[in-house]
Amino acid sequence: MKQSIHSLNQKRVSSEPISWLTCYDYSFAAALNDSALDMILVGDSGAMVLLGYPDTVPVSMDEMIILSAAVRRGAPNKFIVGDMPKGSYETSDYEAVTNAMRFVKEAQCDAIKLEGSGLMAHRAKAIVAAGIPVIGHIGLTPQSSAAFGGYRVVGRDNEELKRLHNSVKELENAGVFGILIEAIPPQSAKKLAESANTIIFGIGAGKFTHGQLLILHDLLGLYPNFRPKFAKNYIPAVVSQFLTRINSEQDLIAYGRATRKDGLYELTRLAVEAYVSEVKLRLFPNEAYSYKD
Ligand code: KIV
Repeated sequence: MKQSIHSLNQKRVSSEPISWLTCYDYSFAAALNDSALDMILVGDSGAMVLLGYPDTVPVSMDEMIILSAAVRRGAPNKFIVGDMPKGSYETSDYEAVTNAMRFVKEAQCDAIKLEGSGLMAHRAKAIVAAGIPVIGHIGLTPQSSAAFGGYRVVGRDNEELKRLHNSVKELENAGVFGILIEAIPPQSAKKLAESANTIIFGIGAGKFTHGQLLILHDLLGLYPNFRPKFAKNYIPAVVSQFLTRINSEQDLIAYGRATRKDGLYELTRLAVEAYVSEVKLRLFPNEAYSYKD
């Protein structure tokens, strides 16, 4: 069943953790569509893991639309969020709404995500007013992290935690239906989730948030340049399961010809299912994949 804002919010109310992964192309999207995953983000992390830029800053709106439309074609049954790239929403409400609308009209995304609060909460408000669901993104915000002290954990001291609480309120007042918090110690993230009136998703924010996000290439151990602490590779956990189905050339030919799901497709699907079930049981992220409080 494809999730909706209503069903996602029901999960928050009934304390059922939401599973969310990034994806950037058709074939991986098809494998995700074949799993119990709740949501997909076509993240601007695709700038790095798919397009090979050094960070997320250079990726353009046109590139994000190409990736998002491919993901939609591969995953017709998933709730898909398009990530507004740097430079596509900061300058004016008009620009923000115009570009958010492209994700909806050209790539059939269900919602968009943008980084920041303050002035960016105004941009979020304008996009919501145009009828497009929005997820905010605070904490470590990679698009502006260079300007604010690099990649670092946010919200350990009271001052920073207070600022995060204020940002949550600003975004809630703007009408967002969810907020992603990134690189935040688990106990601070717990406080944010408990006091929020909207869905709090976490990446590198411990296991107490309403939902979890992970980068697909981290789940697959596929990106060679950078591995944050919260990145869990699920391939080793599913290899033996994969091999029970396909352990001879005969199996490979028969199963492969019948299903065309005999390689990376099936390995990805199994790894995604393992992630989904660990999220649901709040086994991910455990201490090994969380920052210290
Ligand atoms: O683009 C992305 O994948 C993201 C995550 C890093 C949070 O925004």
